Amino acid sequence: MFFSKFATCAAFLATALASPLGASANEEHQIAKRANGVHLVNCVTYSAVVYCENDSNCNFNPGAGNQCIPRDHLNGNGLEIWESAGSCTFDTGTTFSWNIQSNAQSQPNFSVVGSGTNGFQGFTVRKDDQHVMYTDGNGHACRSIYYAL
Ligand SMILES: *[C@@H]1O[C@H](CO)[C@@H](O)[C@H](O)[C@H]1NC(C)=O
Ligand SMILES: *[C@@H]1O[C@H](CO)[C@@H](O)[C@H](O)[C@H]1NC(C)=O
Repeated sequence: MFFSKFATCAAFLATALASPLGASANEEHQIAKRANGVHLVNCVTYSAVVYCENDSNCNFNPGAGNQCIPRDHLNGNGLEIWESAGSCTFDTGTTFSWNIQSNAQSQPNFSVVGSGTNGFQGFTVRKDDQHVMYTDGNGHACRSIYYAL
């Protein structure tokens, strides 16, 4: 599901990311928000990689098929240390990989701080503003730390 959605949306995404010359960072951000995306979220006691078919409308619990729990660089609280090279494989078999600058958290919201790939399409990773995307089944608020478009 993850794979095929990306395949069908690839052309749309390429168009959506082609911002007009001179667009401000915020305009680029708004244009990019129309595409599908991947969010790197923290849910108090664990982290998750969340796939959004429509990044303008992804403030809901993604369900098991559209999320992946990374376990490669955990800190002492069970959260992923995102500012590194990491990856996570969804149940569908698709692996999303990212590479995020070590100083990403000291940069302004929505800054470009890294890159990502799902194996056949590249993504730009930006710092997010830590808005709560959803509350999981255990009452944990899940906040968006980075997003990839
Ligand atoms: C994405 O979600 C936004 C906000 O709900 C909506 O306005 C837009 O039509 C959606 N885009 C697609 C392609 O479904
Ligand atoms: C990012 O946005 C959040 C929420 O609006 C705000 O609290 C925070 O100060 C912002 N961070 C930066 C570095 O601008």
